[in-house]
Parts: sequence; structure tokens; C-alpha cells
Amino acid sequence: MRVLVTGHQGYLGTVMVPILREAGHSVIGLDTGYFADCVLGPAPVDPPQLGDGGPVDLRDMTAEQLHGVEAVVHLAALSNDPLGDLAPDVTYEINHRASVRLAQAAKEAGVSRFLYASTCSVYGSAGDGLVDEDAPLRPLTPYAESKVWVEDDLAALADTDFVPVFLRNATAFGFSPRLRADIVLNNLVGHAVLSGTVKVLSDGTPWRPLVHAEDIARAFALCLAAPAEAIRCEAFNIGTEANNVTVAEIAGAVTEVVPGAQLRITGETGSDPRSYRVDFTKARERLGYQAQWSVADGAAELYSKYTAYGLTEAAFNTEFTRLTRLKALRQSGVLDAAMSRGGRVG
Ligand SMILES: NC(=O)c1ccc[n+]([C@@H]2O[C@H](COP(=O)([O-])OP(=O)(O)OC[C@H]3O[C@@H](n4cnc5c(N)ncnc54)[C@H](O)[C@@H]3O)[C@@H](O)[C@H]2O)c1
Repeated sequence: MRVLVTGHQGYLGTVMVPILREAGHSVIGLDTGYFADCVLGPAPVDPPQLGDGGPVDLRDMTAEQLHGVEAVVHLAALSNDPLGDLAPDVTYEINHRASVRLAQAAKEAGVSRFLYASTCSVYGSAGDGLVDEDAPLRPLTPYAESKVWVEDDLAALADTDFVPVFLRNATAFGFSPRLRADIVLNNLVGHAVLSGTVKVLSDGTPWRPLVHAEDIARAFALCLAAPAEAIRCEAFNIGTEANNVTVAEIAGAVTEVVPGAQLRITGETGSDPRSYRVDFTKARERLGYQAQWSVADGAAELYSKYTAYGLTEAAFNTEFTRLTRLKALRQSGVLDAAMSRGGRVG
């Protein structure tokens, strides 16, 4: 299939593109390039970009640009909870309105399937029980709220020829050349390597479902291959029950692999009220999906890559932290208050 991956120069996109190519797809990308130069280790080989090869803002997309595309994998977003607090209006504009406009343009251009990167954060704080796809959605942030709205609006566009599907990914971990240091396992391994401590800013009891970036990519590949009837308008939790872990367990996995790292659980309440355990039966049964990476293996992988590629404290705290990087791009004038590069239309 000819597949357009939006956000192909992000953390997940950089891992996903080679996996979709290996599955036989012809991939093109679309990205505004906020993190294009934020690379740890050898530079990734990006696919050709839509248009003239320069940065493309999702907000400027038209149906004409999508002719010939058979499937859209939509990853581009301002993609974490605190980012939504930095600029809630822009988060809603990019993550919600521009995403729905992209889907409308895709439908108009004859694109047959639209794979949307949603999140398990839509379940909010769900307690100790397992939440499946039918559980009530209780988004706690503009980021998670925008994901719920997009799911609703895309569902309204579905018909026999246009197949939206919602992949509610657990929190990702694992190495990507375009690293994110602001997601929990990547963050804790980084601190352990750089400072020798694993600091947990809570009592360690909140539940987090985790999944490796490669396992997320494989779920998207399965949805590209699945019969349309199996996925049309369906939500799938993407992850594995084995990686429903507490923050304390995640920290424990880090101290196991980083020599000499000391665990400090501060017991503060913390600012993040999320806690949920997720049921992944549906993707297993309907897509034949099986996540392969454990949290322990992911911690070991990260430790090995961080040390091999010489991760520095400065890079960890700036270019690999989404909020800090975007603030820096705004302060230096590369981006305006709307997170636009000068000269974008619309
Ligand atoms: N990483 C996770 O833990 C996780 C979990 C669940 C869901 N997701 C979702 O998966 C997707 C990808 O996440 P990620 O971790 O790779 O995030 P990321 O921030 O690393 O990548 C997002 C990419 O989108 C691009 N982008 C942002 N706004 C754009 C715009 N207006 N026009 C064009 N490109 C734009 C950025 O430049 C970036 O390359 C997001 O939608 C995110 O919400 C991620």
C-alpha cells in the first residue's frame, strides 16, 4: 500500500517507518520537523516527504495533496499531557481540528483507511480494575480530551469506502533515534545513567500500561493488513497485560539494569493523577496482536543505547524533552505562538 505517515520525524514515526517498509508498504512522510534534528546515535533514513521535501504543517493539508495515498497513519500531534497545558488552544487546533480536517481531506481524496494514534490516557484515572475498549472515557487533560474528540469525529466519517480505526496505545518506551526523554521508562533509565538515582515523585503505586515503540508499530502494520470489516470504526488497546505495571515496578526494572543506581521513592502526591490497568484482549483476538517487549528488556535496551551513544544531561533535558524543545523553538523565534513556522498558510 502507499501509506502516508504523519509525524514520521517523531519518536514513534522514526521507529514505525522501517517496520511498515519491511511489511512491503511504500511510505511517504509529513512532518513539521519540530524534532527532526533531535537525534541520538546514527541518523535515521527518513522516507520521502510529501510536497517539495521541506516541513509540512498538518494544518495546511488539502485533499489534492493526498491523491494516490491508500492509507494514512496519523501520528502527528503535540504529544503529551503537559504540552497541552503549555498551549491548550494550539493543542486543540492541531490534535483535534486539523486531524479531523486531514481525515475529511483523506476521505475526499479516496484514501481507504485512516489509522489514528489514540492513547490509553483516554481512560484517565480508572482505579485497579482492567479497562477494556468499552470502559467509560474520562480524559483528564486537553491532550487526552482531544484524542476522544478525534475518535468521535472520525467515527462519523466512516462508510464502506473510508475506514477509520483507533489505536489506543499504552505509554511507549524503548529506543528511537528521535528519542523522547519525557516518557516514564525512557526518563527513569536516563536519570539513572546520568545521575545514579532513580527518583519516583509519588508513592510508586499508580498503574501505568507500557508498550515498546516497535510493538506499537507492529500493531499499525496489522491494521494495514486486516480486512476492513475487522477494523472499521473499532478502537483497540495496544499493549499487553504483562506490562501493566506500577511506577515502583518500573523504577525497580531500572535499578536492575543500571549498575549502582539507587532507588528513591519520595512519596510526594505528584501532579499526575492517572492510574489505570488496561485489558488488551480485543487486539489479541481480532488482530492476532501480541506485544513482544517486556519492561525489563526495554530498560536493558535503553541502558545499552544511552551508554553506547553517549547520552548527555544537556541533550536529555532539552532536545529530547518535548516541552522544553518546543519552548526553546518558540523563544528563539523559529516557531510563533501558534507553533507555526514563519510563512505557513492557513
Ligand atoms: N509516545 C507515547 O507514549 C504515545 C502513547 C500513546 C499515543 N501516542 C500518540 O502517538 C503519536 C506520536 O507520538 P510520539 O511519541 O511519536 O510523539 P512526537 O512528539 O515524538 O512526534 C510527533 C510528531 O508530530 C509532528 N507534528 C506535531 N505537530 C505537527 C503539525 N502541526 N504538522 C505536522 N507535524 C506535526 C512533530 O514534529 C513530531 O515529529 C501522537 O499522536 C501521540 O499522541 C504516543
